[in-house]
Amino acid sequence: MENLYEKVKESAAYIEKIMIGKPKTGVVLGSGLGRFGESIEKSLEIGYSDIPHFPVSTVKGHDGKLIFGKIGETDILAMKGRFHFYEGYSMKEVVYPFYVMKSLGVENMIVTNACGGINRGFEPGTLMIIEDFINMFKDNPLIGINDERFGTRFPDMSEPYSKDLIAIAENAAKLLGIGYEKGVYAGVTGPYYETAAEIRMLNTMGADAVGMSTVPETILANYLGMKVLGISCVTNMATGISKEKHTHDGVVETANAASEKLGQWVEAVIKEI
Ligand code: HPA
Repeated sequence: MENLYEKVKESAAYIEKIMIGKPKTGVVLGSGLGRFGESIEKSLEIGYSDIPHFPVSTVKGHDGKLIFGKIGETDILAMKGRFHFYEGYSMKEVVYPFYVMKSLGVENMIVTNACGGINRGFEPGTLMIIEDFINMFKDNPLIGINDERFGTRFPDMSEPYSKDLIAIAENAAKLLGIGYEKGVYAGVTGPYYETAAEIRMLNTMGADAVGMSTVPETILANYLGMKVLGISCVTNMATGISKEKHTHDGVVETANAASEKLGQWVEAVIKEI
């Protein structure tokens, strides 16, 4: 993508002209948190296709949107619909909305997703705070010419998920009586569900969960100087650990079942940030 800096500024300028409030926190509504969008007191929705330079959806009728609104007294900005690498987007396109959110003044990102459980202590429905990631995409959004106006060439990645935000999330979970685990998320391209041998490899590498998103966005957010909180919903145990074959419908069903609890949790975290 040429002139990325100018493009991001143009996207942000379009949004700034119409946006209401000054959100410091952004949320990516992954599978299972779609319904969370409904608990936002909305003030404005902008379809991705209306925003200059935003990636164009590859799936007809699946265009995502930015939602501006409030949770309690807190201004928030939510992304309903994300761009996955497996859809054919470049890494820069996958993370493009994050450049724009940073430009709009967003400092904290809460990223949610559905994942497969590798840690045998997990079960479908387990919610996991992401403590660290393993990037198995063999690509990342920082490759290419670096524009220092965004961030440094060689960013530190020793705390990809903010310890402060994790502490807030743990505290909120305890107050709400929500059980959770903590672990390492391995990001893979997909779109096929892994082989049993791949899951054994990821287990040996120290991964507790595997999914097809979140890692590119986390890398970029850190590079841009944003704090990230990642929460995964284990929708199925990974290949070879589960005796059943995976289906997308099964994943969505489990994600939806956990959606209310996850929504309450995210809401409580937003109020505390
Ligand atoms: N693997 C990868 N991504 C996933 C899975 C899985 O088992 N479940 C939900 N997203």
